Amino acid sequence: MSALAVQREVDLRGANTLRLPCVAERYAAPRTLVQLQQVLDQSRREGWSATVLGGGSNVLLPARLSGIVIRPLLDQWWLQTQGDQLLAHVGAGVNWHRLVMSLAASGLWGTENLALIPGDCGAAPVQNIGAYGVELADRLHAVQVLDRATGEVRWLSRDACQFGYRDSIFKGALAETVIITRLVLRLSREPLVTLGYGDLATRVPESPSPLEVAKAVCAIRREKLPDPEELANAGSFFKNPFVTDQRAAALRQRYPDMPCFPQGNGQTKLAAGWLIDQCGLKGFRQGAFAVHERQALVLVHFGGGNRKGLLALANTVAERVAERFAVRLTPEPRLISA
Ligand code: EPU
Repeated sequence: MSALAVQREVDLRGANTLRLPCVAERYAAPRTLVQLQQVLDQSRREGWSATVLGGGSNVLLPARLSGIVIRPLLDQWWLQTQGDQLLAHVGAGVNWHRLVMSLAASGLWGTENLALIPGDCGAAPVQNIGAYGVELADRLHAVQVLDRATGEVRWLSRDACQFGYRDSIFKGALAETVIITRLVLRLSREPLVTLGYGDLATRVPESPSPLEVAKAVCAIRREKLPDPEELANAGSFFKNPFVTDQRAAALRQRYPDMPCFPQGNGQTKLAAGWLIDQCGLKGFRQGAFAVHERQALVLVHFGGGNRKGLLALANTVAERVAERFAVRLTPEPRLISA
């Protein structure tokens, strides 16, 4: 098999949904596990630092990435029956939304609440994607990774991934040491209906199919979230913050309408979008960036800006929220270092 092409000086503006300007010194897009191992081998020999990029929908890219950017395009997936379990093996390069719609259209339950989340499957465990009452962690069986140092394949069980809200071991201890190559998801042929979040239940027929749930989720998301194809953005820019139950109760006294999600462990999750909205920041523009006018949690890029400009707006927003509510907001997308 011929060696995988390594391109030079590649423009990544179109490879991140925020459309931030970024040039990769080198770029390779392996389609198979063997090609990925080869490019890792070569990077080690040449001493190139490797940055792994998925669909680019949850990253803040710097102006330049030296070394090599690797985009795993492993795009195969298949179903497996194991005892009474139905599993889906999914390559890291499969588009998440397309997978969700295929599974839902086949009448398989499990991922339908996570429809229309942008990005590749390989990135899904990193931030433990979640929406409408379901997180990837609820459906994940195992993750296959490649050890960057040895090129060997390893498996992590769901528990080993240390999932939390928008968090996993892939943001922590394993951030620089492995590359996710495959997910194994647990699906169900029997209804596995989760309609408790927001008004989802009112938007599906009685006894819905997974496709009907997926379509309802898409409709809700389209009403609130800007399409990155039309207006550059990275979905929620801030994580929903946690405060103690006591602090939430005190805030609630002053702001009786404030949405609160008690976690049952002494912590309450607040809605960052609501906090930003209350500061009157919907539509607030600073340079090339703005707070989205329909969903305050999303920052949008009109073009011509860079990461510095985006972080300046994020800072302004976080400062306003801190002044008013004494709550600290932290960004959700990953800051990729140069
Ligand atoms: N709200 C406002 N104003 C706003 C935005 C929200 O008042 O501008 C209020 C809403 O009315 C609601 C509450 O805040 O009472 C929560 O809003 P919503 O249900 O829209 O969810 P969210 O907290 O804004 C989270 C996820 C989304 C996910 C939705 C649905 C995070 C950071 N975001 O958003 O995920 O789609 O719940 O489950 O957890 C993403 O991660 O990119 C993303 C879009």
